[in-house]
Amino acid sequence: MGKVYAKIYQAVFKIGMYIIPWGMPETLEGAGCVTKLPALIKEKGFKKVLVVTDSVLMGLGLLDSMFKAMDEAGVEYVVYDGVQPNPTDINVSEGLKLYEENHCDAMVAFGGGSPMDCCKGIGAVHARRGKTVEQLQGLFRVLRRIPTIFAVPTTAGTGSETTVAAVITDHATHHKASMNDTCLMPKYAVLDPELTVGLPPKVTSTTGMDALCHAVEAYTNHTYNSKLENKLAEDEVRLIYNNLYKAYCDGSDLEARHNMQKAAFYAGRAFTRGCVGYVHAVGHTLGGLYGTPHGLAMSVILPHVMRQFGPAVYERLARLAEVCQMTGKSDAEKAEKFISWIEDLKVKMNIPVGLDVIKDEDIPQIISWAMKEANPLYPTPVYWTEPDFRKLLQTIRQ
Ligand SMILES: NC(=O)c1ccc[n+]([C@@H]2O[C@H](COP(=O)([O-])OP(=O)(O)OC[C@H]3O[C@@H](n4cnc5c(N)ncnc54)[C@H](O)[C@@H]3O)[C@@H](O)[C@H]2O)c1
Ligand SMILES: [Fe+2]
Repeated sequence: MGKVYAKIYQAVFKIGMYIIPWGMPETLEGAGCVTKLPALIKEKGFKKVLVVTDSVLMGLGLLDSMFKAMDEAGVEYVVYDGVQPNPTDINVSEGLKLYEENHCDAMVAFGGGSPMDCCKGIGAVHARRGKTVEQLQGLFRVLRRIPTIFAVPTTAGTGSETTVAAVITDHATHHKASMNDTCLMPKYAVLDPELTVGLPPKVTSTTGMDALCHAVEAYTNHTYNSKLENKLAEDEVRLIYNNLYKAYCDGSDLEARHNMQKAAFYAGRAFTRGCVGYVHAVGHTLGGLYGTPHGLAMSVILPHVMRQFGPAVYERLARLAEVCQMTGKSDAEKAEKFISWIEDLKVKMNIPVGLDVIKDEDIPQIISWAMKEANPLYPTPVYWTEPDFRKLLQTIRQ
């Protein structure tokens, strides 16, 4: 019954996809371009912005060149730097307070997915005064214009600068869930590869694998995709194949960094319509319950889910293998090569095969949250029920 209902739901949603306005942010691109952002903010008529970021980035001085340019351009700013990895509803409330008390009129989301999602959450709760983060989670629950967001990604992974999602954890229940609404897509994105040069290898590798996961999950879903999303997913897999390991080995390789930024951006666009799948549904629960970094969860879970899908994904994975110039006698052989490439890359980048954080007593909760997130919305190649999730969790724990 669940599977039949999911098929009907997805068929209806697929029709809806054609009328949803899928935009993309305007971009500033290139090394050092973050210093041009204040002039853009001024040109668009904004006077005082809330900068949403985290304390690590402030400590590294990564925002200094932008602050200097803001002073020169006469753009006033207030900083909220309390965002934690896997941001919570408390982070959203703290940022919102600053935004409103200081009468800001726009926001700069500066950082990885955590500050960007927190910033979107602040915008949503500001627009829907009186509603909680939890009430706005789900599909199309914000339904209002939120303050303009200028997104400045400093990791190359989440693609939050171009997606309609904001993933926030409830601090009390540890339930990590997503708001999804077209109004959450930032209006502007600043892709400055210099900002990612200082990313530690461990963050480069796992956030890059998150981008790969977006492209692979969107592509293997394929029900909602138009030609554009399929093409974007193929292009981004190729970019990641050619650039992630380079960026990991030599963080100062600006070309590889820029290519990874582009891959993350367009893979974000691909899954915005194509959706993610069970890798994300399970990974989100681990982020909420145990604070597992999102990219790490994605890196660990991705190949296990693809293997568990089995023959249902051979054809799609074989196409991705071809995009990366991998050869084989059959789709099964090419798909196997593609999954093995992911596994080998993980080994080369010191990413573990499994995770030992999962507690026995949490398993029913993990499965229930993952099923709630994924079914019936995500058009996954195989429809999973409780035993399938249990099997995956066992594999991850080994
Ligand atoms: N909205 C979406 O569409 C979407 C998509 C995927 C993931 N997410 C969410 O994004 C969050 C994860 O974001 P993330 O993976 O970018 O990590 P993050 O934002 O949590 O950052 C991870 C760590 O890296 C540090 N860091 C970031 N940039 C740095 C830099 N340039 N130099 C040095 N250190 C740097 C941060 O300070 C932090 O300590 C999760 O909550 C995840 O659920 C959102
Ligand atoms: Fe992700």
